[in-house]
Order: sequence, then C-alpha cells, then structure tokens
Amino acid sequence: VEEKFIDSVLATMSIDDKIGQTNLRGTSSRSKTLSDELKEDVKQGKVGALLNVMKVEFVDELQKIAVEESPNKIPLIFGRDVVHGFKTIFPIPIGLASSWDTDIVKSSSRIAAIEASSVGIRWTFAPMLDIARDSRWGRIAESPGEDPYLASVYGKAYIEGFQGDSLNNPTSIAACAKHYIGYGAVIGGRDYNTTIIPEPLLRNVYLPPFQSALDVGVATVMTSFNEINGIPATGNEFLLKNVLRDELNFDGFVVSDWDSVIEMIAHGYAKDEKQAGELAANAGMDMEMSSRAYEHYLKDLIKEGKVTESQLNAFVKNILRIKLRLGLFEMPYRDKNNESSFYKKEHLAEAKEAAIKSSVLLKNKNILPLSGDTKVALIGPLANAPLDQMGTWTFDGEKEHTITPLKAFKEAKVNVTYVTGLTHSRDRSKAQFKKATNGVKDSDVIVFVAGEEAILSGEAHSRASLDLPGVQEDLIKELSKTGKPIVLVIMAGRPITITNIIDNVDAVLMSWHPGTMGGTALQEIIFGLREPEGRLPVSWPKVAGQLPYFYNHKNTGRPANKKDYVAMYDIPIGAWQSSLGNDSHYLDIGYTPHFPFGFGLGYTEFQYDNLQISKDTIGFNEELIVKVSVTNVGKKKGKEIVQFYTQDIVGSITRPIRELKGFQHVSLNAGETKEVIFKVSAAQLEFTNHKQIRDAEEGDFNIWVGSDAESGLKDTFYLKK
Ligand code: IFM
Repeated sequence: VEEKFIDSVLATMSIDDKIGQTNLRGTSSRSKTLSDELKEDVKQGKVGALLNVMKVEFVDELQKIAVEESPNKIPLIFGRDVVHGFKTIFPIPIGLASSWDTDIVKSSSRIAAIEASSVGIRWTFAPMLDIARDSRWGRIAESPGEDPYLASVYGKAYIEGFQGDSLNNPTSIAACAKHYIGYGAVIGGRDYNTTIIPEPLLRNVYLPPFQSALDVGVATVMTSFNEINGIPATGNEFLLKNVLRDELNFDGFVVSDWDSVIEMIAHGYAKDEKQAGELAANAGMDMEMSSRAYEHYLKDLIKEGKVTESQLNAFVKNILRIKLRLGLFEMPYRDKNNESSFYKKEHLAEAKEAAIKSSVLLKNKNILPLSGDTKVALIGPLANAPLDQMGTWTFDGEKEHTITPLKAFKEAKVNVTYVTGLTHSRDRSKAQFKKATNGVKDSDVIVFVAGEEAILSGEAHSRASLDLPGVQEDLIKELSKTGKPIVLVIMAGRPITITNIIDNVDAVLMSWHPGTMGGTALQEIIFGLREPEGRLPVSWPKVAGQLPYFYNHKNTGRPANKKDYVAMYDIPIGAWQSSLGNDSHYLDIGYTPHFPFGFGLGYTEFQYDNLQISKDTIGFNEELIVKVSVTNVGKKKGKEIVQFYTQDIVGSITRPIRELKGFQHVSLNAGETKEVIFKVSAAQLEFTNHKQIRDAEEGDFNIWVGSDAESGLKDTFYLKK
C-alpha cells in the first residue's frame, strides 16, 4: 500500500519537482520574518524539508503553501536539532549515556518529541551514534561514549523515544542516526578531521550502533563531514549503497550534513559543485542539507547521463516513504491537542531523574552526603550559570527555567553562602580570590562547581588541554589551604583532567552539563536524598597526552601490567636505560586512565562473590549461563550496575582485551545479596575479521563480572565448533 501510494505520487512529478524533494533548506535561526523568496520556492515545489524554522506561525504558513499551492501538494518536513530535550533540557548525551539506563534515555527523547512536535517539528537530527574515544573532540559531549555495545542499546532507546509507538502518531518525530560514519575517529580529536578506519574496525566498533538504530526502524541517517580512508562519507558509495542499503536494508532516507556535499571540493574529492552533486548522487545520498548542488545541477547531470533518473526516483521514494510514515499526507499540521506541552511537571521530574542517573561520583573521602545542617560555601563559575548548565545544542531551552545549584540550594533552604570567585570558566583573573577565600571562612564545607562553559564543547569546539580552563585549578588550590573540605562538582561536556587537583579535594562529582533540573538533582545528591547513579561511558584520562584512550584496546606484543607504576619517577637516575621499562606505557603516567570505563561510586559498597559458569565448554548453538552474587556490604540502600565483559583470547585478527557484553541494574538494601545472571551465546562473540568474514571463532574466552572495565571476578570457557 505504502509503495503504491509513493509510486502514484512519483508518477505525477516532473524532474524539477523530484529535485525539489531532495532539497533540505536551512533557514536562519534568528530570522524574524519569513522571506518572500522562501515562500515562492516552497510554492514552486523547490523545497522538500526545512530546518531551523524557529517560529511556529512560519511553520504553519509554509506548510499551508506546500500542501495547498505547490505542484504536487507534498507536505514539508520541519527539522531541528532536538538533541537532549526541546524546552525541558535533559543532560547532554554523554550524560544520558552515563546513566546506562535505557528507560530514562527513552523517556528523555519521548518528552523531547512531545514538546518539539507541538510546534510542528517532526524530524530531529539525533541521536548522534559516533563512538568517541578522544575527549579532546568537542562532540564527545553529544556522543554515547567509547563502547559499541553501550552505544547500541543507548541509541536504540533514544530512537524509540523520539519515534514513539508509531511514526504517524502526531507526537512522534523522525529520528536521525548520525553521523554515518566514523566521525568520532577524527585525527587528534580535531573536529571535521580525516579518519582512517580499516574495515574490520569499522564493522566491529563504528557500525554496531547504526545497525542497532536500523533494527528499531530509524527513519533517517545523516552522513558525516569526515572522509574515511580517502573518500568523504557524503560521496561514499560503498558505505551508502553496499553497506547501508544492500546489507542493512535501510529504507528511510539519507541526509547530508550541513554543506557536506560541497565540502567534498575542499576535501579534494570533487573539482566543483557539479561534480560534488554527481558524486553524492551516485553514492546514494538522498537529501542535501543547506548546499544546493542537487538543485543547481542534478537536472543537467541526468540529461548528460551522469546520474540516472531512476537514481533520483529512488531518492524521492525514500523521502516520500518517511513523509508518509509520519502521517504528513493525512495530517500535515501540528496537533492542536498537543499544545502547551513545555516544562510540564512530569517533564521536569524526568529531567531531574535523568540528571541524577547521569551524575558520576569519582571520589568520595567520607564527605558525601552532607548532613542537612551543613553550612555550605557554594563557589565556582558553574554554580549559577543557567545557560552553560544546559550544554551544547540547546536552541530552545530557556535559562529562566533552569534550576542552577544556587537556586536549588536556596529553594531547599540549605544554609548556603554564595561566593562568586570566578565569573566564567575561562576567567584568568585572580582578582576575586581573596574575597573567595574570606567568604568561605564561616562554612563547614566548600562546594566548588567547576567546569567548562557550554561553548567549550560541541561542534567545532575541540580542546588540546583537558584541564579546567582559566584559573579554576589555582582557586581550588587556594581554597584547599583554608582546610575546609571541598566537594568538587564538574559541569562539562567532556571528561576533565583533574590529576593536578585531585588531592586538594575530598569528593569529585561529574554532572556533565545536566540540563534544566541539574541544580535540583545535585542538591538532592549532595545532601543524600538520592545517590549518584551514573557510571562512566568513557575512560577518564589522567592527561590529554594519553588520548585516544579506550578500555577495549588490544594487548600489543608487550602489554603493560604494573598498575600505577610510573617508571620515569621510580627508577633511580643513572640506571641502565632499558630498565625504564619495555612495555606499552607512558613513562610519566603509566598506562591506565584516571578512572576506568564503567566506573562510578555510590553511597554504599558492593561485593561480588561466587562467580559460576554453567559449563566449561559450549557449542555454537548453546548459551553459557554466568551467575554471580552481588552483596550490598555498606550501610545504605544502593544501586549497582553489574557489568559483564568477555575477551576472545586468540583470534584470526587480534581482539580487544575486554568487551562489554551486558549489564544489569540492581538495587539492594544494606546487607542484601542478589544473584545476577548473564547469558552469552556465540552470536554475541562474533566479529568481522580481515577477510571481512563475520563469525565467532573457536577457542578460549575470559569473562569478568564486576563494577567497571578494570575489575571483576574472572573465569574462562571454551567455545567449540
Ligand atoms: O545536525 C547537525 C549536525 O550534527 C552538524 N551540522 C549541522 C546539522 C544541522 O544543524
């Protein structure tokens, strides 16, 4: 029925009408009036979709022109970067990934969809599914972190929330799995940079989150800015046709990233706009964002026989299919029953929940939680920064609705003194230091909210140093001289290297950019009404020079194994040169991260015992059952994320030292024990080898069950053909 309808529409369309559908026109987000030129273009059918139409009246007016006056009366799709909330802002994506909680991820994107669709937005450019292993890269803020498994389950939940039970529900918005592919592998973490990704790495690490997005029916996919092994993603026939369409059976549409079609000229892959259009078209890229190579040249390219009309027909069909699934042909306008959905009580409650689940406690020297009567000196550049707290990609969130830590502490009647200290995160002036150190004198505890302003992460915002910007470290060191305990809260778009100051503070709580309700969440965590529930979705570096770093790396021929051994300082001066070590580590910082992937403390402690496996050997059609006892050995009720890792010890290509294969949340009262069960089958142990064969291989496997990527109880089994 769907295809018949699409064919019937296509049959009425001229080449110009078809090209119009492939045009995603970017509008200026600041524009106060609707230009006559845009209205005319919509009327003539020259536009298939629009992004960043910020006023709801403009959305209505343009849609009316499209469905009443354009040649084929085809509705427009209105898109926007609704990335981590629309009005109610949730933690930035890497924060949401830190929850390891698919329910909260799904409800955050559901709420974003409800709010955004109320103003006619039916398409978002999210979730970003780029594996990110280098915290210098600004877009790590928008990423699911470094692990393909975690990214896959997270992405699936994100998409399910946006797209709802059915795309044609008026509160559903089409999701976009981006950026296809490898964008997170940019050299040195420099945005837009080159990537070199051998096919097994592509398939084993970068592709799984996209595969999982397709499995749940993601409507659209965005090509990435980067080139891969010499060919830009936007003009990459192998990736778009062979992999995405033929192997993975994608039937939605592919959109380019902003101008990425014409950027193939700067890449040195196309000589001019016309050739860029030809390359993108022949690669199978359906809809062009912002640049207009298709609009300008596709007709000529078809006349010249360089692109076939059937290729253009395929683009239009893919686009119409999604418009149809969104129900736009039946109901092109926004649902009037879904008005005033912003900042609803339940939306704010979920945003607070998400911020609690995203917060990762990295250090706690018997200081947190604070008792209710503690006199707190609240200080630091992010303690009352409502805009920065929302993080990157928040076009629509409003600072007036943001609860900062200062506001939350006051609302909760905390005995708090607010001392500014620094006006913003990059402040280099020490002028207020004296005032700050004096101001904390009457307090019991200093809560220092440090970090990065929102604009220091996100697109094109990479950093070479990951230390706290400005003179924040200096102020922390000054404050530590007062002898008051310091709770360091970090709000940032990436892990921040804190090696220089970790010993000056008593607790470290990472809250990423926590969104609208971040302050309330932090107040509840700091005073023990809730515990921080997050676990790191990325390894946390000691210094930026360690990057890229990821837990699931290979062993090398000379693996390092002396944890925390820092040879450069341990070996006496004048010792024989090679005794500085000959394994794979840095002389000055060893080889481990500051905090491993999966790490996060709560307000209690857990013990793992009695790891059991159902068999020592399993066949390819069998499952291994893994059981472990987890006991809350602390004094408080608490939550643990039990993590299950495997290692394929010998492979036809070398394999990572560990890979996450599953995790479970358990909630235990003090003293309570629970048995946690994982199952693993050969399918979960498959990988793609150098011959591009995907299979599991016979041999020995290590398994671990524990609380992060560096710990856990260990056992071994054999997988037999
Ligand atoms: O969605 C984004 C993309 O991630 C980066 N370039 C611009 C697009 C649209 O705003």
